Amino acid sequence: MKVGGHPYRTIWLKAGDERVVQVIDQQRLPHAFEVRDLRTVDDMCHAIRDMTVRGAGLIGASAGFGLYLASLQARDTGFDDFVAQAGAALQATRPTAANLSWAVARMHLAMAAGRTPEDKRGLARREALAIADDDALHCQRIGEHGVALITDLAQRKRGAPVNILTHCNAGWLAFVDVGTATAPIYAAHDAGVAVHVWVDETRPRNQGASLTAWELAQHGVPHTLIADNTGGHLMQHGLVDMVITGADRVTRQGDVANKIGTYLKALAARDNGVPFYVALPSSTFDFTLRDGVAHIPIEERGAEEVRWISGKTAHGQIESVQICPDTTPARNWGFDVTPARLVTQLICERGLCEASEAGILSLFPEQA
Ligand code: MRU
Repeated sequence: MKVGGHPYRTIWLKAGDERVVQVIDQQRLPHAFEVRDLRTVDDMCHAIRDMTVRGAGLIGASAGFGLYLASLQARDTGFDDFVAQAGAALQATRPTAANLSWAVARMHLAMAAGRTPEDKRGLARREALAIADDDALHCQRIGEHGVALITDLAQRKRGAPVNILTHCNAGWLAFVDVGTATAPIYAAHDAGVAVHVWVDETRPRNQGASLTAWELAQHGVPHTLIADNTGGHLMQHGLVDMVITGADRVTRQGDVANKIGTYLKALAARDNGVPFYVALPSSTFDFTLRDGVAHIPIEERGAEEVRWISGKTAHGQIESVQICPDTTPARNWGFDVTPARLVTQLICERGLCEASEAGILSLFPEQA
């Protein structure tokens, strides 16, 4: 996608020094656009944990590049042990997104084909780049499959803007490029279909307010920021035509873990007859799990993210302020699980399917 007219991905090898991985610092957006250099697997673990990079697909791609950095750091003696420990460290950074362990496993498998450490370094570079390219391609395909849902609604509305509600950021910043929930939206907008996006602010880290609103604006897509609890009210008044969210882990029966608050949007959508779509690449499926509510690990982050909020002051300074009494305790679950029965359809790189084991296996028969 373009930032100020210049094409960017969210992660890449530094031109002229491929021992360095560069990423867009998502902690600084939307007020500053800054690129960070990452030189070691520890740098990458830190960037994932503090959410310099975040979003399921980008976390997966970051794990790939993290193992590439580990392969450069590892000495020839003890190479395999070093890389195995690096994989475990990456995997421990964030628990919910399936893409992380998927990418670590894919990297280990690719490197296992090498005979010498030098072979393995070359394979690690190639596989990390392939993971990133696949992620971008799959998001592109999600857009191609999902756009018909929006154009159908536009026809039914005789060209009036299609109002789409989204939660968190499942845009290009959460992936390597294009994004998942946003891919059909960008495709529709680029095709001249009138769309308007309701952007949930997404407390406590405000990925909607700071990231989704920023990237939609970069692409010129009309949008309006709303407080997290507004969606139900809008649906009751016919102001939402469809919901599209991303996902961090989807089980084989179609239960969806996504940013905290997604479940409430799905309930409101069901109550109001609004279709609720979830867009995801195949790397987000966890085919080992069925019951997502019972078994998907939910990340719990620090209470300070709930107790404090940061933003730009009227004088242009970035500041954090505490929003509750000094002694108020807080808890901070990062994700919730929307049961498959509340999901209208899944939008994947292979097409659309029902959120059910039969539906998912019709697209991914090799997982039967
Ligand atoms: O905590 P984050 O920002 O890494 O959360 C991931 C997300 O962006 C959302 O849950 C998103 O909707 C999933 S799609 C990457």
